[in-house]
Amino acid sequence: MNQRGQPSSRRREDDEGYQARPSEQKADVRILCKKLGLENQKSNTCSHKQIYKLTHIIGEGTYGVVHRGVDTRSNRMVAIKQMALDPDGQGLPSVALREITHLGQMDHKNIVNMLDLVVAEKHMMVVFEYLDMDLRQYQNNQMKKVKYLPFETIRLFLCQMLQGLSYIHSCSVIHRDMKPQNVLVDVKNMVVKIGDFGLARIYTVPLREMTNEVVTLWYRAPELLLGTELYTTSTDVWSLAVMFIELMENNCPFNPDCEIRALHMIFQALGTPNALTWPDFANQKHFCDAFPKWAAKSWKEISPHAPPLAIELLKLMLVYDPSKRISCDEALCYKDFFKAHIDQRLMDEPDTSPSGLRLNPLSPRTPVSFKKTKLTPTSAH
Ligand SMILES: Nc1ncnc2c1ncn2[C@@H]1O[C@H](COP(=O)(O)OP(=O)(O)OP(=O)(O)O)[C@@H](O)[C@H]1O
Ligand SMILES: [Mg+2]
Repeated sequence: MNQRGQPSSRRREDDEGYQARPSEQKADVRILCKKLGLENQKSNTCSHKQIYKLTHIIGEGTYGVVHRGVDTRSNRMVAIKQMALDPDGQGLPSVALREITHLGQMDHKNIVNMLDLVVAEKHMMVVFEYLDMDLRQYQNNQMKKVKYLPFETIRLFLCQMLQGLSYIHSCSVIHRDMKPQNVLVDVKNMVVKIGDFGLARIYTVPLREMTNEVVTLWYRAPELLLGTELYTTSTDVWSLAVMFIELMENNCPFNPDCEIRALHMIFQALGTPNALTWPDFANQKHFCDAFPKWAAKSWKEISPHAPPLAIELLKLMLVYDPSKRISCDEALCYKDFFKAHIDQRLMDEPDTSPSGLRLNPLSPRTPVSFKKTKLTPTSAH
């Protein structure tokens, strides 16, 4: 469990397990920074202590502590994630390497910007742009003033999260840990940005096996709970749908404390899957004939504050069969639901990613290219 009482998604060492050898660390970081176009401070403790003044701790995650700090050169506020290097001298943790590699190559308004990387003797610091708070904190703060978030705010945030995820997916990366604590909010500008890429993975076609123990239990897709190791971007869409309901209801629809309870809660709400709703259900690794057969609840029961169009969208995002689940691109075009909030510039801009990372989207669930999609000019809902 983490400090917020939610089970952590990182219960065992991840599936990639790459660790740089000690002698490779500093050289690696410099090469990595150069490749990623980052500033990289010289890897000596004295210089980075002078440049970055840490003020206080703003978050504590499974793999490190996040501080608020100031870049004394520009007086810019930054967030600094500090991760211990492996005490037995085994090098950079693979989670850290993953976060740096993915974030360093991404450039999108709805993805947190990584600014710098520092490796000292015992720890490593990743420097990010600072945002006011995460989405969980934002919702908790707002709940002191109002009972429910205004629907327009929710729609705006959902649209931005979909745009961020769509970009991530078009880079052939699955985030794998979508939850309110990993989405950051710029309150003044009402912009949300996806962060924490510690569990993100590049995926390939044909799919490679990956660990299914990802995504905090509350937001975990049923195929992961049922043991699939071949999964795609659609798992992120499921997590986002659960977050969507949580924003509307001020309550997470599923708050299980173990995997079987998580499955039961989903089945109780959406109905136990069958050969019609999920043809591959019985082939899932942890399928059990004895699963209780629940009928689906009404959507008014599942999400009483969701307007009709939001329910229609949720139905598409929470489809059991991952291959039939709506993609982020498709959701963004859903019946002009997001028309007023979509950032048209992101759709028209040429690809600016330094590595050309976006040129070849591989997702089997992203048949529609976001940049090429045209919205039809009918009324916004
Ligand atoms: N750039 C930032 N600006 C403001 N706050 C941040 C920023 N980055 C992280 N935080 C805060 O720190 C918390 C932990 O950060 P993050 O999720 O990146 O770390 P983590 O170690 O991977 O956490 P966990 O394993 O619990 O998911 C976030 O939930 C958020 O509250
Ligand atoms: Mg996190």
